[in-house]
Amino acid sequence: MPKDVIIACDFNSKEATLSFLEKFTKRKPFVKIGMELYYSCGPEIVKEIKARGHKIFLDLKLHDIPNTVKKSMAVLKDLDVDITNCHAAGTSAMMAAAKEGLGNNAKLIAVTQLTSTDQAALTNQLLIDEPIDEVVIHYAKNAKASGLDGIVCSPHEAKDVHEYCGNDFLTICPGVRFADSASDDQKRIMTPKQAKENGCDYIVVGRPITQADDPVKAYERCVKEFLQ
Ligand code: C5P
Repeated sequence: MPKDVIIACDFNSKEATLSFLEKFTKRKPFVKIGMELYYSCGPEIVKEIKARGHKIFLDLKLHDIPNTVKKSMAVLKDLDVDITNCHAAGTSAMMAAAKEGLGNNAKLIAVTQLTSTDQAALTNQLLIDEPIDEVVIHYAKNAKASGLDGIVCSPHEAKDVHEYCGNDFLTICPGVRFADSASDDQKRIMTPKQAKENGCDYIVVGRPITQADDPVKAYERCVKEFLQ
């Protein structure tokens, strides 16, 4: 199972993104393109970053009726990315439809509960009474039964997800912070080293790298803690 650090390139322009990526001369990082960048630059930015030799996780978190998600995935499949996703909350029917639209053109993973959601928000706002870790495992099992390749979850949940869904089922984990960096709006966080010890397959790191004084140094620190 390949393990890697994915940089969340949450920028709002092509110029900012490419000038950021050009700093990485030694090793081309795995890049996550999320809503901010995709909505600002469209599919062209995906093609451009791919042409520069980066692997891509297209994080658009599709969540709609099954037919709409299927047709949208059928369009996205032509971008030939490595990983893309939808929300597990869209139900098994929607996840299966996403898989049908995408085919085997990329790994398809499901977002379980956002790492910014804590137990209080789950209980009081979403009216889900179960403990958050059980909700994540339940969504992971639904994703697996719907033919998906893995889930997005907090690093805290990676070990249990592997226990219930198998070691081949991918755990892609945002909510990663260095021991000495701000948590920002992330609630369920771990350091890269703890994420490695908890069995995460990929960690997704944004602001601790993109906002660092020296992003390459921050990325290398992350790679060292997580991969070595
Ligand atoms: O800056 P930071 O490290 O918090 O970035 C985390 C990235 O991972 C963001 O792009 C966010 O959209 C994404 N993400 C997340 N939680 C999820 C799924 C995606 O934080 N459950």
